[in-house]
Amino acid sequence: MTRTQDPVGPCTAGSGPAEPEVSGSAASGPATGAREWLELARDRWHPALRGAVDRLDPHMRQVAGYHFGWLDADGRPSDGAAGKGLRPGLALLVADALTGAPRDAVAGAVALELVHNFSLVHDDLIDRDQARHHRPTVWTVWDDTTAVLVGDAMLAIALEELALSGSPYAVAASVALLAATRELIRGQAEDVLFESRAEVSVEECLGMVAGKTGSLLAVSASMGAILTGADDETVAAFHTFGAELGLAFQIVDDLLGIWGTSEVTGKPVYADLAAAKKTLPVVYTLASEGEAGAGLREWFATRTARDAADPDDLTQAATLIEKAGGRSWAADQAAAHVRTALAALEPVALADAQRERLIELAHFVTRRSA
Ligand code: IPE
Ligand code: IPE
Ligand code: MG
Ligand code: MG
Repeated sequence: MTRTQDPVGPCTAGSGPAEPEVSGSAASGPATGAREWLELARDRWHPALRGAVDRLDPHMRQVAGYHFGWLDADGRPSDGAAGKGLRPGLALLVADALTGAPRDAVAGAVALELVHNFSLVHDDLIDRDQARHHRPTVWTVWDDTTAVLVGDAMLAIALEELALSGSPYAVAASVALLAATRELIRGQAEDVLFESRAEVSVEECLGMVAGKTGSLLAVSASMGAILTGADDETVAAFHTFGAELGLAFQIVDDLLGIWGTSEVTGKPVYADLAAAKKTLPVVYTLASEGEAGAGLREWFATRTARDAADPDDLTQAATLIEKAGGRSWAADQAAAHVRTALAALEPVALADAQRERLIELAHFVTRRSA
């Protein structure tokens, strides 16, 4: 099996040299700066996240604490791997860029991280994925019912957090978050429907990705503007910034799902191929001329007849995608969406240092390996 820690490496020339980014490493370069900002932001939102989870009943609190990594499966304190904190970090960086560390934005950051994790717990159940953040997923440790309930509980306390914030912008922020959640659910539904469809166009695939991932990144960026009382134009600019970053983010996730390493991502590699997910590199290859495209169409048409978990079989599909140019095309698409994201920021008045942080964060989306 050929795997690399740099799945978008060959094709990011337009946005500078790509660098392998290993979670928690001290690698140098722009991605390191973004990680530092995200970790500094985490110090501001994490205590409030724990406070929100503490409102849950003991059982749900234990399951949520396990998912977030601060408890083990038996409820003992733990130092488990956590997510990157991209959505709350983005919201706080935008809020800082506009007004300078407003307290109200923390509630929005917590609500975003809770909605994100509601979607992850349910996503693992839907996808039947057994690992996330380097540990067994909630549905495998407990059961399907527990995964459904803890996801629902996270959604409830997310909205409660905003409602309790006392912010004069809490209603506007809640409406934006709910609209994004509605879009996220549309995208997740399409993601599953597309598994059993032989033909999915690139446009349909991008529409699905805009829903399942773009919508929450969009509201993460715009939340920082909404909660600081920014004007509509500024909110819209940050919404576009986040939506475009979300497209790039999911394309990179899909590349990492094939050419990443599970030791770094903490998630299974090849699970998307085994589930016949119509990710962007797959959709491009299925529509492509030539032998590799025909080979992948044949692979998908007959995949139910073979053992979907056979690593050699999955490696063969990955090789066909690479030969057809699906990997490099998708990486180019991710880089293009980052450029569009950055273009959306240009009209917004920002101090140089604050703009630089947002640019670093945007590049981090494609220069990561986890
Ligand atoms: C995973 O998102 C789900 C996708 C939208 C691809 P992240 O990779 O941001 O998840 P964590 O929170 O860092 O684990
Ligand atoms: C990400 O879907 C979107 C949501 C979780 C809403 P994926 O299925 O690609 O995410 P991972 O790869 O499991 O994190
Ligand atoms: Mg998944
Ligand atoms: Mg994925």
